[in-house]
Amino acid sequence: MARILITSAIPYINGIKHLGNLVGSQLPADLHARYMRARGHEVLFLCATDEHGTPAELAAAKAGKLVAEYCAEMWEVQDRLGKGFRLSFDHFGRSSSPQNRKLTQHFAGRLADAGLIEEVTEKQVYSNADGRFLPDRYIEGTCPNCGYDRARGDQCENCTKQLDPTDLINPRSAISGSTDLEVRETKHLYLKQSAMRGQLSEWIDSKTDWPILTTSIAKKWLNDGDGLQDRGITRDLDWGVPVMKGEEPWPGMEGKVFYVWFDAPIEYIACAVEWMDSGKGDDWERWWRTDKGADDVRYVQFMGKDNVPFHTLSFPATILGSGEPWKLVDYIKSFNYLNYDGGQFSTSQGRGVFMDQALEILPPDYWRWWLLSRAPETSDSEFTWEAFQQDVNKDLADVLGNFVSRITKFCRSKFGEVVPEGGEPGEAEAALTRALQTRLTAYEAAMEAIEVRKAAAELRALWVLGNEYLQSAAPWSAFKTDEARAAAITRTALNLIPFYATLSAPFIPDAAAAMHAAMGTEPAWPESAEAALTALPAGHAFTVPDVLFRKIADEEREEWQQRFAGIRT
Ligand code: 2FM
Ligand code: ZN
Repeated sequence: MARILITSAIPYINGIKHLGNLVGSQLPADLHARYMRARGHEVLFLCATDEHGTPAELAAAKAGKLVAEYCAEMWEVQDRLGKGFRLSFDHFGRSSSPQNRKLTQHFAGRLADAGLIEEVTEKQVYSNADGRFLPDRYIEGTCPNCGYDRARGDQCENCTKQLDPTDLINPRSAISGSTDLEVRETKHLYLKQSAMRGQLSEWIDSKTDWPILTTSIAKKWLNDGDGLQDRGITRDLDWGVPVMKGEEPWPGMEGKVFYVWFDAPIEYIACAVEWMDSGKGDDWERWWRTDKGADDVRYVQFMGKDNVPFHTLSFPATILGSGEPWKLVDYIKSFNYLNYDGGQFSTSQGRGVFMDQALEILPPDYWRWWLLSRAPETSDSEFTWEAFQQDVNKDLADVLGNFVSRITKFCRSKFGEVVPEGGEPGEAEAALTRALQTRLTAYEAAMEAIEVRKAAAELRALWVLGNEYLQSAAPWSAFKTDEARAAAITRTALNLIPFYATLSAPFIPDAAAAMHAAMGTEPAWPESAEAALTALPAGHAFTVPDVLFRKIADEEREEWQQRFAGIRT
């Protein structure tokens, strides 16, 4: 039994996440956590909300709420939706927690002591009316490129040109609209990442088993001239972790906070502290400190590709730079993007299907199966309503659901709701066992390697084998001439249900639980296909479950297509 620490990239607090966000980190992380638990390993699965930074401030202002109040409410919403999708976090934390504040300040102090922090004076736009410095996206004006009058200081939304606040014509504050702006000097802390280039490069080179998507992005940033520039880790904002050197004040940094990307990954650690402090866990250091037992832990991170540089370079720079024995990540699984019906999912534009909307339409297993089986692993992938309808109807309803319903109903009508007695397995059963074993081995290998699409394909193939067996062994025909033979076939097929339930649970936990409940069985990972096919003794009672998966009708699909074609308001 191993110990496995799993984290999903922590979603920004500003709003409900869309299905593209979900499949890029939380959902595959959950798949891995569920699989590893099912194999008997000790798992700590953590996620949290990413609550600091300008997006949180802006979203709160838009909602007319205090930012702390807004974050508390949105955490509840994200927590509820995570549970709705059956994300099995051991703890769902908050980057604004006192635990994270303390750890973030601790790391900053250690980095300063190690000589890895530089104080830099720079010029920034100050709004006299607002009494504060304005980050780029708080400054609006006319785009010098296309004339759009609501371009932001970092980018013009209309023509996509990247901008500097000083490029804007007639700049004004996005908060108050004031044009009383001036450029002032302000001091910030920079993390000297460049001093750690050698150490980081050596560490990444040692990760020969990482997915190409992860290492190619890491190496590009590492080797690109300015990829590993020293990076500002503080901001002139109110909302965030106050800048402190450990527990000491930091002269000249009063009223400033750490940059959101500095404190967010530290929340992975703080989340384990929260887990313990909430009474759910016992000893967080066993998972995070290599001097306290964490050298035995395998640490796996999940994230979208845009997050890779922060996890392969910036966060390791923080950890290594501290000079303390923190656990470093062992494996980074990253994902490409899921697109939506010919375009992109977009939170700011409200385009696509969002987690709350998805659950209003269909239960979580339908989405989990589709998203995971089509995960954007080796390239971007696309959600279309046609593909969703087709896969749900075929894989879930026709193949798995139909198999379970057909064999349980057949048995009930001919033998009653008990596993029938009589007959012996023959050549058909031996062939089935061999085929199942081959697929089972491949499924386990894909799940171990976190090859999500491949694992889904193997699982589907396992379901198909059961269907094909039932179709060709045809117990309904056998029953007419040879009741004992029909009993042997039925017994074999019924045994497939708990086998499928256990194997499928990481993908479709609710259906798996319903299958086990109907069969009166408990999840137990099969030793082999052979053992699984003979697990249920004759006489074991079961019930016919309710329909596991319903089909999506064409009219429904069209209605949803229409409903989600527009923009969410
Ligand atoms: O991209 C995002 O959604 C970020 N909030 C991810 C942060 S992951 C980590 F570093 F905490
Ligand atoms: Zn423009």
